[in-house]
Amino acid sequence: MKNDIKKVLVSESEIQDICKRLGKEISDDYAGKCPILIGLLKGCEPFMSDLCKNITVHAKLDYMRVSSYVGTGSTGNIEIKSDVTTDVRGQDVIIIDDIVDTGRTTLLIKNLFEQRGASSVEVCCLLDKPEGRVVEVDVKYIGGYVPNEFVVGYGLDYNELYRNLPFIGVLKEEMYK
Ligand code: IMP
Ligand code: MG
Repeated sequence: MKNDIKKVLVSESEIQDICKRLGKEISDDYAGKCPILIGLLKGCEPFMSDLCKNITVHAKLDYMRVSSYVGTGSTGNIEIKSDVTTDVRGQDVIIIDDIVDTGRTTLLIKNLFEQRGASSVEVCCLLDKPEGRVVEVDVKYIGGYVPNEFVVGYGLDYNELYRNLPFIGVLKEEMYK
């Protein structure tokens, strides 16, 4: 699996540093509160589990499954495949995602929880790909930035593979064929 990777963009230890930094920022900002972390499956999974261990305030965890991608191209369609089980009315929500690319998924989910009556909705993503942005969306917590390349690993997939890679890298072109 590792032989399919052209270059490593974010190493395992850099990812752990990111989780520590973001965990501290969230803990400071939500002191005395109990935010609900809502992870967007499946990509959020390794990030959410490492991040939440670095959050020192009470927090609740919930998940949602949304789908927006086929292969390496955004379809622009976002489908809610499974929803949260928490009533978010009057609650502080933090959406946890792997990567913000066009911003469409993030914007839609943010609007959704605002409409459902959350008292605040913020976004925490492991990676931001600013060049891919199509819609404007406010992302408060960002782990790191990546160029406009298709990245895999640590939750991010190519056709469901590479999510279990412990670092983030760029796939060799021949893997797309
Ligand atoms: P957006 O709606 O275009 O911002 O897409 C967000 C979702 O697309 C992310 O949560 C990922 O699941 C997926 N995605 C975007 N860029 C990449 C990438 O480089 N590799 C793997 N998945 C990606
Ligand atoms: Mg995702």
